[in-house]
Amino acid sequence: MKIIMLGAPGAGKGTQAKKIAAKYDIPHISTGDIFRANIKSGTDLGKKAKTFMDQGLLVPDELVVDLVVDRVGQDDCSKGYVLDGFPRTIPQAEALDAALAKVDQKMDYAINVEVPDENIIQRMSGRRACVDCGATYHIVYAPTKKEGICDNCGGSLILRDDDKPETVQKRLGVYHEQTQPLIEYYTDKNILVEVDGTIDINDVFTEIVKVLGE
Ligand code: AP5
Ligand code: MG
Repeated sequence: MKIIMLGAPGAGKGTQAKKIAAKYDIPHISTGDIFRANIKSGTDLGKKAKTFMDQGLLVPDELVVDLVVDRVGQDDCSKGYVLDGFPRTIPQAEALDAALAKVDQKMDYAINVEVPDENIIQRMSGRRACVDCGATYHIVYAPTKKEGICDNCGGSLILRDDDKPETVQKRLGVYHEQTQPLIEYYTDKNILVEVDGTIDINDVFTEIVKVLGE
C-alpha cells in the first residue's frame, strides 16, 4: 500500500502518517523529519535546507526528489510506505510518478487532510516537538504525560523554529500556491481521498481506516 499524505502545514499529516505506518506496518517517510535530522547532525543537506525552512519556503525540488526516490527503492519499502510532506509541488509529483513507472508501480492513495486556515495558526502555536526523536504533541489536543517531556524517549519538547505565527502564515501561503494544485492532480488520477482533519485525532484515523481497510 503506497500512500501520500496531503494537507496544509499543521493539518495533521504527521500525526496520521504515524498511525497508518504502525497499523499497516509500513515505513513513515517524512521529508520534513529527514531535513530536521540533517539540520541536527549538521550535514550539507541540512545547512542548505535550513535556509529555506526557516523562512517558511519550500526546499528546492532538486534537493528533495532524489532523496525520496532513493528512499522508496529500499528493501523495507517493498510492501508500501506512507509519504508525509512529499510531493509538495507538481514537478515533485511528476518525478515520483516517473520513477515509479520505471519499476511498473504507482501510488495507491493520496489522502488529503482538510483543515481550514483559521484553525491552523492556533494549532501550530500549541504543537511541541521532541528535540531527540522528533515525536510531536499538542499542549491541548495531544498532551504528554509529563509536561515538557517526550512520552516516547524522555527528551525535552520545543516549539519548532518554523512554528512562529508569522512563519506559519508564510507556509500557508506557499501551501496554497504550490501544494494545493496536487489535489486536482491526484483527483485526475482517481486516487484522492478527502478526510475532515478538524475532528478528534482518533476519529480522523477511523475515517482513514474505513478507506484503507482493516
Ligand atoms: P514539514 O515538516 O512537512 O511541515 P508541514 O507540511 O508544514 O507540516 P507540519 O509537519 O507542520 O504539519 P503536519 O500536517 O505534519 O501536522 P502534525 O501532525 O504535526 O516540512 C517543514 C519544511 O520542510 C517545509 O516548510 C519545507 O521548507 C521543507 N520541506 C519538507 N518537505 C518538502 C518537500 N517535499 N519539498 C520542499 N520542501 C520541503 O499536527 C500539527 C499539530 O496539530 C500537532 O501539535 C498535533 O498534535 C495537532 N493535531 C493533529 N491532528 C489534530 C486534530 N485532529 N485535532 C487537534 N489537533 C491535532
Ligand atoms: Mg509533519
